[in-house]
Amino acid sequence: MTENEYTYLITINTGLEDIAAKEFKQLGAKVIETHRSRVIVKSDFEFIFRVNYLSRTAHKAFLIILEETDIQSLDDVVRVTRQIEYSDYLSPHQTFAVRFERIGEHDFTSLDMNAAVGSVIVEYFLKTTGKRIRANLNKPIVEFGGWLIQDRLIFGINTSGSSLHMRGYRKFQHPAPLKPTIASSLLYMSRWFLDQNLILLDPMCGSGTILIEAALIGRSIPPGYFRDSFSFENFIFIDQSEFQQFKESINSKIEWNKMLKLYGIDKNKNFIEGSIVNAKNANVADTIIFKHGDARYLRKYVDVIPDVVIVNPPYGYRMNVHSWVKKLYADFIESLIDLNPKVELIAMTADKEMERVASKYFNLVDKKVTIYGRLSTLVYRFEPK
Ligand SMILES: C[S@@+](CC[C@H](N)C(=O)[O-])C[C@H]1O[C@@H](n2cnc3c(N)ncnc32)[C@H](O)[C@@H]1O
Repeated sequence: MTENEYTYLITINTGLEDIAAKEFKQLGAKVIETHRSRVIVKSDFEFIFRVNYLSRTAHKAFLIILEETDIQSLDDVVRVTRQIEYSDYLSPHQTFAVRFERIGEHDFTSLDMNAAVGSVIVEYFLKTTGKRIRANLNKPIVEFGGWLIQDRLIFGINTSGSSLHMRGYRKFQHPAPLKPTIASSLLYMSRWFLDQNLILLDPMCGSGTILIEAALIGRSIPPGYFRDSFSFENFIFIDQSEFQQFKESINSKIEWNKMLKLYGIDKNKNFIEGSIVNAKNANVADTIIFKHGDARYLRKYVDVIPDVVIVNPPYGYRMNVHSWVKKLYADFIESLIDLNPKVELIAMTADKEMERVASKYFNLVDKKVTIYGRLSTLVYRFEPK
């Protein structure tokens, strides 16, 4: 592999860009630009392995192969993408897809760009090999991703395939599950991340995502460990034996027997059973205690004093839902303060009631706005007063 510098565009959770950017730095990248839901970084070639196998916040990582400015027309898009030597990246026997996103005013659509650049690629292989490469929009072997932001064009190859938030351990589906990449971001924000000996509680744990992600972090289990595949495993320009070596070296550092102090409660018994199924699938069920219980009466269900609570409680916008949620939040916060007035609390909810209720007992030290199931959702970090 070469020692050159490569550019990557990484898609991430909206509103949590600073957390992702910090992680990419720790994975050996230089952060060049941060935009809403994407970060552009520079790093070495091996970063493809690191970001896909080790990042807990990334969704898709694109290796950028072309960047141009002053793109005014669809003809300009065709002209610049014709400069690419596509045979460096795929063979005519592999299927491909092109997907553009467009931001700004243009007199053509992203679908027009997909079709035009798709034709450029087909023509390229006809001309250079006499073979007709096939497009496959559902399951391409190589997916090109493009962004036209005003007159700036960025074009690259999706090295991840499906979004990396699909870790591969989630067998039980909760009706409103948290993306593991959001769960990891909440953990990165917390004191628990700095001291993994602390006691962490998720008192409305649903399918256990926050605690399972915590266990993966605590045991140094790579988030990519349970995935079937990454797109780059099909790339002709990557030596696959290097990825095998990389994985072996990372996997040798996993501490499978490390015991952490992780506790989860949910009032729905099915969800607790589902959490255990998911935790077993991730090989971490032995270090998380899941219990059927009620967050409004914590003393009754937990026999430890949590140092950190990370919670993603239910919420809703309709009036009748709001009054029920209001009561739940008030009862939960009082029961938490009764258990440990010195606890750190991280809460993710679309209902501002949490801020009102928790501010009685805590100082609000951080607040971010992210997107959860298409809803604008708040992430709060509270410290004890
Ligand atoms: C938004 S979901 C949490 C999803 C979870 N973060 C995940 O990734 O699967 C909220 C959860 O709060 C639980 N819940 C609601 N009221 C509760 C209470 N009083 N005590 C404990 N859990 C409660 C619900 O059963 C639901 O599973």
